[in-house]
Amino acid sequence: MYDDHNIFTFDYEFDKEELIKYYHEFANDQNVRVQYWPWIIKDGSIVKTWMDVENGWERRYLKQWPTTISDPALKNYPYIKHLLRIFDISDKAYAGFFKFAKNYQQIVHRDGGDYSDQNHAGTTAELKKNGYYETFKQHVTPEGLGGIVGLHFVLEGSDAGVRFTTTNTKEKSEDDPHYIYKSALLNVDNNHYVNTSDEERLLFKIQIYEPDYFTCVQRLKHLEL
Ligand SMILES: [Fe+2]
Repeated sequence: MYDDHNIFTFDYEFDKEELIKYYHEFANDQNVRVQYWPWIIKDGSIVKTWMDVENGWERRYLKQWPTTISDPALKNYPYIKHLLRIFDISDKAYAGFFKFAKNYQQIVHRDGGDYSDQNHAGTTAELKKNGYYETFKQHVTPEGLGGIVGLHFVLEGSDAGVRFTTTNTKEKSEDDPHYIYKSALLNVDNNHYVNTSDEERLLFKIQIYEPDYFTCVQRLKHLEL
């Protein structure tokens, strides 16, 4: 168990099979936005793109921002509603799935800022093309994409874990702490990255935009899970 400035891990028996089922159902749901880099989705599956690379990510998120329990788009996903209730997510939050390829070396980043500024991460160009970028910019804090806190449930590839840079800079180091977890709150406003092994990694993630990490940890500790 970890409880520090980067991550708070906890035991929670979430329904992994149900969430994996939703991940697949999201692929054909009009209320869901699928983004990828550099993968493409074909017949509901991920296939490699024109680039001869092994790495990449894909995410499936509800189009409606933020995610709320009353969102009609959630009617087919009662278990997501259940999690929002159990974890008392009533602030600005956003729910979806993240998938990383095998042997993926993610850049060091902060969820709330850096992805929106780095074209090579794929997100900015895609959002600008679709006209969503300005909408996102208006809503997210501090700015850019992603939240400042992540409530994560690992569905596949849990040995990848997450690493935070020791000096909170963009430089990776052998000394970076490596946290392995199944469910956790992450301070994704700190610089972090994921290196997957020879297994894909699939995550159900609730991005939280406020309050901050330490407040979220205190709240979680007071919940009777
Ligand atoms: Fe991240």
